[in-house]
Amino acid sequence: MATILDDISRTFSEYLLIPRRTRKGQQADQVDLSTPLSSIERLAAPKLKINTPVVSACMQSVSGTELSIALARQGGLGFIYCSQSIESQVDMIRLVKSHKAGFVQSDSNVRAQATLCEVIELMAQTGHSTVPVTDDGSSTGKLLGIITDKDFWEFEDDLSRTVGEHMTPYSEVIHGLEGVSLKEANQLLHKHKKDCLPIVDAGGHLVALVFKKDYVDHRRHPLEMLDESKRLCVGGAINTHDYKERVPALINAEVDALCFDSSDGFTDYQLEGIQWIRKKYGPDVVIGGGNVVSAEGFDFLVEDGGVDFIKVGIGGGSICITREQKGVGRGQASALLEVANRRDEYFAKTGRYIPICSDGGLANDTQIVIALAMGADFVMMGRYFAMTEESPTPKTSINGQMYKPYWGEGTIRAQNWQRYDDGAESKKMVFEEGVDAYVPLAGPLAEVLHTTLFKLKSTMVNVGSDSLAEFRERAVLTLVSEQSVVEGGTSNVFKFDNSSWGNTG
Ligand code: IMP
Repeated sequence: MATILDDISRTFSEYLLIPRRTRKGQQADQVDLSTPLSSIERLAAPKLKINTPVVSACMQSVSGTELSIALARQGGLGFIYCSQSIESQVDMIRLVKSHKAGFVQSDSNVRAQATLCEVIELMAQTGHSTVPVTDDGSSTGKLLGIITDKDFWEFEDDLSRTVGEHMTPYSEVIHGLEGVSLKEANQLLHKHKKDCLPIVDAGGHLVALVFKKDYVDHRRHPLEMLDESKRLCVGGAINTHDYKERVPALINAEVDALCFDSSDGFTDYQLEGIQWIRKKYGPDVVIGGGNVVSAEGFDFLVEDGGVDFIKVGIGGGSICITREQKGVGRGQASALLEVANRRDEYFAKTGRYIPICSDGGLANDTQIVIALAMGADFVMMGRYFAMTEESPTPKTSINGQMYKPYWGEGTIRAQNWQRYDDGAESKKMVFEEGVDAYVPLAGPLAEVLHTTLFKLKSTMVNVGSDSLAEFRERAVLTLVSEQSVVEGGTSNVFKFDNSSWGNTG
């Protein structure tokens, strides 16, 4: 006979945190939100730590290049989706990793014979105001000089004159030699009060450019996720079908973490995949497994498989209809509490700490806070990031309000049958487990995330914690009644309806 659990399947919105003693001097801007993304062996440092406890969902409508760059710059990690060809996923990973290496390949270059008119056009097209002049007009040609928008006056100078007549010639260009470190390049920029430093090889060919603005930008993003070579970090999703080809390609592209993207990770297919990767690449590669919703699922992927982190959540996603379609899943709070409890037992027994990611169904900032209090080390979100400027879908105006398309990986549109495959022969989707929808545009990722994280830090101070580990340790939660939810909203006050403000229609 089937086993019926005594527990009710509970969600985050059913809980509230009880404040605990806040110590003198504790304040939100001092709170540390860094968290491990890989297993920790006997309190050694994790292989990978993120500075902000959020990662983006492995979804076509979420984790594109631009979003992964924006998120890494805020200290989180994007997981580029695997419901695309290996080649295009690799290209996206390479784009993130090469985004801001400090040394960038020049993408606007001219020949000395070009006219000022042509260079103005190029500057307008690319938005770049500094253009290297090379013998063949390419990014690797012999450097002949530099022309900037300060070298001519568009409405005073004769625009049919050549770049060669206006540029700063190579003999006067402050430059670095190939092999120079980023630090040394920045020192040269500083010393010579320059905005751009060309790097050339021994033969005088252009190799790269280093910009002062990138240095300043980096200082403004102190939480940026950088690898050892100062490149942005990025994750890659994988599936249980083509991992033998996909994983080597992603590792070759120097992906920072892998994550199985599966609606149900408690399968022999995923176990075999994890074991294959571990055998081939050893303990250094970061592998996330899941999704699971029980302690049993945790044991399977950790003890038998040896994953670095576990994703928890089935059926809670904003675009998800798995529970309706198949009757499978569990309330996200119940699932997380059970798996986090097993993670702590496992740590007490073995000294090995496995970070947990709460994936999907986070409907607002409060629920992110509750998930982290309940034991998640970090959260994965789809809808939240789909709403930002940087998500890969186009902005669409509906009745005067801006929206962005957001669809599940289990839709006909995404065609990600590998995520839902049960090993059967048919390599196509038989029914949908997700919906195709729109979400309102919320704004630039940095701004949206800033508010969320500030609320999180502020709550952590209410609970008297300076770090996420302390937050989990000190958190005391209570179940709420329907009436106390009503009490938590505004009551007995007259609210102005400002819903039409700004609406000129
Ligand atoms: P959200 O943050 O609530 O939008 O949920 C995002 C999560 O939903 C993802 O990280 C996946 O785990 C899950 N997911 C993505 N696509 C689908 C789908 O089509 N059906 C069910 N779950 C999905």
